[in-house]
Amino acid sequence: MSYYLGLSGGFSSPGEDLVHGLPEYFFHDAAACIIGDGSLLAAAEEERFNRIKKTTKFPINAIRACLTRAGIQPHEIKGVGHYFRRDLVDQSLGELYLDNAATPVRYSSDFIVNYIADYFGFDISQDRLYGIPHHASHAVSCFTRSGMESALVLVMDGRGEENSGTVYQASPKGIEMLAAYDLSKSLGNFYLSGCNLLGYRLGDEYKVMGLAPYGNPATFRDIFKNLYSLEAQGDYALIQPEIGDHVVAAPFFANGFTPRRKNEPFSQQHRDFAAALQAMLQEIVMHVLTHWQKVTGNTNLCFVGGVAQNSSLNGLILRSGLFREVFVHPASHDAGAAEGAALETARILGDTYSVQPRLKSASLGPSLGDASEIEHKLRLWRPLVKFHRPEDIVDATARLLASGAVVGWAHGSSEFGPRALGNRSIVADPRPAENKDRINAMVKKRESYRPFAPVVTAESAKEYFSLASTMANYDFMSFVVDVREEQRGVLGAVTHVDGTARVQIIERETNPRFHELVARFGQLTGIPVLLNTSFNNNAEPIVQTVEDALTCFLTTGIDYLVIDDFLVERDDDTVSSMENLILRFRLMTRLAKTRKVRAGGGFESACEIYSDYAMGDRAEISEDLFNLLDSVKDDHPLRSYSGAEGLTPQLRDELFQLWQRRFFTLLPE
Ligand SMILES: [Fe+2]
Repeated sequence: MSYYLGLSGGFSSPGEDLVHGLPEYFFHDAAACIIGDGSLLAAAEEERFNRIKKTTKFPINAIRACLTRAGIQPHEIKGVGHYFRRDLVDQSLGELYLDNAATPVRYSSDFIVNYIADYFGFDISQDRLYGIPHHASHAVSCFTRSGMESALVLVMDGRGEENSGTVYQASPKGIEMLAAYDLSKSLGNFYLSGCNLLGYRLGDEYKVMGLAPYGNPATFRDIFKNLYSLEAQGDYALIQPEIGDHVVAAPFFANGFTPRRKNEPFSQQHRDFAAALQAMLQEIVMHVLTHWQKVTGNTNLCFVGGVAQNSSLNGLILRSGLFREVFVHPASHDAGAAEGAALETARILGDTYSVQPRLKSASLGPSLGDASEIEHKLRLWRPLVKFHRPEDIVDATARLLASGAVVGWAHGSSEFGPRALGNRSIVADPRPAENKDRINAMVKKRESYRPFAPVVTAESAKEYFSLASTMANYDFMSFVVDVREEQRGVLGAVTHVDGTARVQIIERETNPRFHELVARFGQLTGIPVLLNTSFNNNAEPIVQTVEDALTCFLTTGIDYLVIDDFLVERDDDTVSSMENLILRFRLMTRLAKTRKVRAGGGFESACEIYSDYAMGDRAEISEDLFNLLDSVKDDHPLRSYSGAEGLTPQLRDELFQLWQRRFFTLLPE
């Protein structure tokens, strides 16, 4: 079998960025995947391992996980593809070095060769290493997994090398570019620019999409109309500002708009803005698609790139009836481009593949381990938790859910892509509307307007949701659809304010265990639907390991934890038992002591803990805690840093809050 490795991400080492203050957009969404004879054997995002959302690091842990899952040795890799063309990457690196005189000049291929040699003991020759054009990477990944014989492929994102959007005609012979939209037309960047006015940053776009239904797009329609024009031949233009480089801001400032900062409340103005931004995106993309569908006559669509993560837009495409069938890749963001980079590298090196079956499952990452490994790990966490192995874990969980419990549910392999699809999920009864606030308060600590998504069995999907006649892959939660009017009152926790839901339809063959859970809940309650949200809190990516799942469980209000066949409950009080755990800093966590001038003169000390990367969290801490953290050594439990009377209640509380914010992890001895 011929194996290829695909990579996304940048080149920073695990413990240090290339330069201090490296921007969050510098080759983000690090990931790895391995294909074998065209099949996607393994795929994982680096963020799940290093616990940095949308990380720009080199994906060392993801490569290791993929090699393990695929069951191959590094030397069996025939070629490596990276998700951007090499000249663009090297130019970006070069500019970074010019701005940072202390950083030595390095080229992308040297980084990749050296990382693979250093971490995996394998010398990949430079002629087996390719930088694949970014949009081709996206397009090939999506088309190859669509199961379609031919398709119109639309790639839209923040940027590729020269383009922000590309239209292809795809067939088993390859992909042929039909049109490209240059960087000045970047809808990804435009939308992000709008998000900035609402206090959001890269990776938050879906929150603005969720806010949009609360607003009236008409309020700002006239201003938005001045920001773009629809042109002939499926073209469009975005009007660049005359002052500044924030593509959306100028006319809004000129009209007295008040931007929102992070954590501030939303005004109706902000909601209306989100609605108008979303409406504009939808209008332009439909304009593009309408034209190219007509020109090619192709009724199959593959939609990919960051913009294809916009599930409201995707739902509109289905309802438009433009296509007979639509496929959206589960990892439409840049992590998924790793797969296309591997496939294109295979093609360049002479390996081409016939039509592949449609991808039905995104469970392509590492598993939690076998039962004895999991049991061993759980034992270590006693007495913070107690656990047992019910005869029928699915039935036991369904009963807990039916009685109102919120359950952390982890089993099998983690999913590739931003959605939890039943292997790393928090699940709950979808009916009580108050479950939304409850879960937000106990776990997510997030904006209360944001909807939770439902998962429904394939057998009952049409009973609860209005599905368009256009066929679509509903496996990956990629489409917002209408909840049937008569069911909106029933599904109170998962129906959005506009009567829609971002539904996942689960088939028995795809994930038998999760399907069984939803079906059993249905037998108990009459509703074969569950609320399904990602298993994490607001400070971290989705949980990956048994330890991550336990950490999330113990630092939130989740009622029960299910790990494969084990049902886990809290036992001793977490905050007081915490002293028996060992503290391990995240690799990018830093402590700092600064001296500030006091208002009345003289100096005062300030102690801080922070994550040393773009968008990393930061907190002021007490001097006592600073001193404790400063003296932390490997393998010493927290109790060893205090006297016989133990940690003071203040220190415990402070430690617990920092644990919740994931500056460090706590592990059993
Ligand atoms: Fe992209």
